[in-house]
Amino acid sequence: MTRPRVHETVADLRQGIAAARAAGRRIALVPTMGALHEGHLSLVRAARARAEHVVVSIFVNPTQFAPTEDFDAYPRDNEADIRMLEELSVEGVFLPSVAEMYPQGFATGVTVGGPSAGLESVTRPHFFNGVAIVVTKLLLAALPDVAVFGEKDYQQLAVVRRFVTDLGIPTEILGAPTVREADGLAMSSRNRYLDAGARRTAALIPQVLTQAIARIEAGEPAASVLAEGTAQLAKGGFAVDYLELRDAATLAPVGPQSDSARLLVAARLGSTRLIDNMAVARPASGWA
Ligand code: PAF
Repeated sequence: MTRPRVHETVADLRQGIAAARAAGRRIALVPTMGALHEGHLSLVRAARARAEHVVVSIFVNPTQFAPTEDFDAYPRDNEADIRMLEELSVEGVFLPSVAEMYPQGFATGVTVGGPSAGLESVTRPHFFNGVAIVVTKLLLAALPDVAVFGEKDYQQLAVVRRFVTDLGIPTEILGAPTVREADGLAMSSRNRYLDAGARRTAALIPQVLTQAIARIEAGEPAASVLAEGTAQLAKGGFAVDYLELRDAATLAPVGPQSDSARLLVAARLGSTRLIDNMAVARPASGWA
């Protein structure tokens, strides 16, 4: 096993990527905030299937955290992360400082409409501006052939696809399926904040999604199914931010034009906020 080359500056990252390109290799980027788990590793494997030179960025991006959120407490363990990436034979790790990404006087933003409306933006209005600027900068730094994002953050994936298309960034955006624990809970760096009781309760999220999807696909009216799902989560101890059915491609509310949909949820257990989503097929009788 070879330790990945660690790039701390954009200049060094570009030099590593230029050498790989000169050797005829395709480049894949997997943007992360570290605290890697099996979900991230599945993104790395998807990247490896598409490229001979895989770079994983590890950067806890301050602009996507509100002052009230867990930026300082966000888990960081670069050495453990690099060891996991070494086992997957990743070629490069981009580990920039905040000053490298946001130089003194930084004053530029990327604001995305469309899929960023509602859902996460209701409780985290700053979030997609922060994601859009940092992902734009990461893509411009690496100019990869393909960049891989998890479907776990489905709205984020839709927002990234939107601005990459709108800005003409020449990178293919690949969505990779959510990796789940044995009881169905989506893997997340935030799951480590759950104590044993909360961890058991958290499995209610995928259960509610799965049951609601079966009923919607069987033709039951979505509004009543979602109201019951919300009540079930609340009874289980969650404070529910949203449980919503959206068009899978645009994230607009589902309408007759929607070929498929996505059921998305965000709910808090104590101070831990969990999100998840699953695909919904159009019912034979149309959306009710
Ligand atoms: O999904 C994440 O981990 C982050 O939002 C991302 C895409 C790495 C941007 O900071």
